[in-house]
Amino acid sequence: MPKRIAICPGSFDPITKGHLDIIRRAAGLFDEVVVLIMVNYTKAATAFTAEERVDMARRVTRGIPNVRVDFYAGLLADYAREAGACTLVKGLRAVTDFEYEFQMALTNKKLYPKLETLFLTTDIQHMYLSSSVVRQVASFGGDISEFVCPEVLQDIVARLAPGPPGPVRREPQT
Ligand code: PNS
Repeated sequence: MPKRIAICPGSFDPITKGHLDIIRRAAGLFDEVVVLIMVNYTKAATAFTAEERVDMARRVTRGIPNVRVDFYAGLLADYAREAGACTLVKGLRAVTDFEYEFQMALTNKKLYPKLETLFLTTDIQHMYLSSSVVRQVASFGGDISEFVCPEVLQDIVARLAPGPPGPVRREPQT
């Protein structure tokens, strides 16, 4: 029987504990899972380079034998066809994710009709979590150790944390 290959696609800027939960669960459902670091054309810039995002995803998933990490700057449907993947696995956090994910799933199906999209509901403890929440909290010097894996915590803090605190700034009273 051919191997059943799934892809977990995303920007992973950076990879969070929420992503890892979805990747682990996908790894339990498929023979092989590709964590595919991609370019999201709706986002202006990334905080981490493609190489850094790949490297962080590799470190975080090292202990899961049927997971590999790759980067692709083209269409997800083309990569899936080339890789012989049957399914895209995505995490759904809330209704707000749904419209965007539904549109992407339909587009990918149009581009490669054999490709299914499987939505896994996110673990309740990760409902609020996203890469942008991580970037925002880290940029203000907040504690992100609950949000990201220890293997990548220092990299993220080193890139995003502010310098020593200055005076608290308040908006002028009018
Ligand atoms: O983590 P993100 O940023 O929500 O992931 C979105 C991503 C990267 C999976 C999506 O932007 C994507 O698939 N990019 C590759 C280009 C592509 O295939 N676009 C067509 C689907 S609408």
